[in-house]
Amino acid sequence: MMDIQFQNLGPAQWKADVMLLPACEEEALPGICPEIDKAVPWLTVAPGLRDFKGKKNELALLHGHPDLALPRVLAIGLGKKEKLDMNVLRKAVAAGVAHCRKRGLKTLLLPEPGLARLPGGRTRLVEECVCAALLGLYRFSQLKKKTDEDMDDPSWLAVGFDGASSSEELQNAARMGESSAWAVSLARDLASTPPNLLSPHEMGVRAQELSGQCGFTCTVLDEKALAHEGMGGILAVGQGSSRPPRLVVIEHVPDGGAKDGPLVFVGKGITFDSGGICIKPSANMDQMKADMMGAACVLAAVATLARERSPRWVAGVLACAENLPGGGASRPGDVVRLANGDWVEFQNTDAEGRMVLADALCYAQKRWTPAAIVDIATLTGACAIALGKEIAGMFCDDAKLAERLRGACTACGEPLWPMPLWEPYKELLKSEVADISNMGKREGGAITAALFLKHFVKEGMSWAHLDVAGVDWAEKTTPLCPKGPTGFGTRTLLELARGGLS
Ligand code: BES
Ligand code: ZN
Ligand code: ZN
Repeated sequence: MMDIQFQNLGPAQWKADVMLLPACEEEALPGICPEIDKAVPWLTVAPGLRDFKGKKNELALLHGHPDLALPRVLAIGLGKKEKLDMNVLRKAVAAGVAHCRKRGLKTLLLPEPGLARLPGGRTRLVEECVCAALLGLYRFSQLKKKTDEDMDDPSWLAVGFDGASSSEELQNAARMGESSAWAVSLARDLASTPPNLLSPHEMGVRAQELSGQCGFTCTVLDEKALAHEGMGGILAVGQGSSRPPRLVVIEHVPDGGAKDGPLVFVGKGITFDSGGICIKPSANMDQMKADMMGAACVLAAVATLARERSPRWVAGVLACAENLPGGGASRPGDVVRLANGDWVEFQNTDAEGRMVLADALCYAQKRWTPAAIVDIATLTGACAIALGKEIAGMFCDDAKLAERLRGACTACGEPLWPMPLWEPYKELLKSEVADISNMGKREGGAITAALFLKHFVKEGMSWAHLDVAGVDWAEKTTPLCPKGPTGFGTRTLLELARGGLS
């Protein structure tokens, strides 16, 4: 990842191949702030300056004398001032940094005094800009030979400070932004990895590796241990594949011991969802490699919190299985016993996520006394139909937790929308032969899926369910995310844990 550095001694000392300068339509480039005028006095006479209008998506590379400490300015249009928000800024910075890579520019400077004029608060602005700069460079390139067109990432981005005020708080904010980008990149890498290369077993291996690097604990339950725990759901989902399921349990206990209960994240980790015997249509079936994105987000969030030495006790349960229609696969009509002792009828083998999550939720409540549980899952096509490709569904009856999640998701640009846990629909999950069925009706499919999960959550437990089907996969490339898995939800989980619960 591009290195994040700091230049503390004020504008006269700033030095880099290029200075990034986001500006609105209403702003004249020289005169944005005295520090910038001091750092690049040549900007007033730069040829091409007047061509820059500050429109959204506009980029203009302006040149001073090549021997100067700051020989270039990349002006980045933000559009109209009254429409400016953090999302616009994030995209602009990401596009700017990607443009620098394309131009082969190696060292970048982001002047903090230039950000301070924008709405959002100084620390937040620094955090978000650093995160966006790194995500603007993200690509999944592990499985491709490098070609001549593939430019290397810039070596560093420095945040430039005015030299007068203490910048410790702002430096911490930059480190947080860097850490968040690392998390999102990790989640994207995992979800992008082809399903032949990322089995449930491999998810366990990756978690083990990360636990060593980041300093959290990791236990992997194999099929024997799952049987011992009575986890008939995850076993039934995985039995059509020659690659058996795994429950990956990770935990970060803060230095000085744990108070209260842990915040527990539960992630759906279907490494490939063919639908099983109720097989999916072949169009876009490859995208079902990302059906483990919930688990990827959880792993990335917990690893990052451990790396940050977060003061919060957090744990994660990754429910990993491969849903294939092999000879041993579960059939519609099969009835299996889940970890809480309830019998569940498989009405549809493509509704596999809730089966693995139900076992994982039971496990989490047995193993800890959680302060709260948040599960995240690419659970239903119905949620994608209801909310589209940019907003995820949030099901939560605990007003306090819901409010914290809303706050967390808004801060980091991962919009969640409240959805109802409408009890009367529980009727739709009645089974003729078992305690509960794994499928309701087509209508309200996201709600019945959430109610199914709720069935396995103890009364009074603070719990939220995030349905990220739809938002998990970007249809087209944007400055902050290339086409493919998005890692949506990673930042919300991080933000929730960083913000505290009480
Ligand atoms: N993994 C899918 C949901 C999904 C769909 C995720 C589109 C991302 C994009 C899930 O396992 C599934 O197949 N759900 C079924 C449930 C139905 C059979 C009750 C669905 O949504 O159709
Ligand atoms: Zn499915
Ligand atoms: Zn699925």
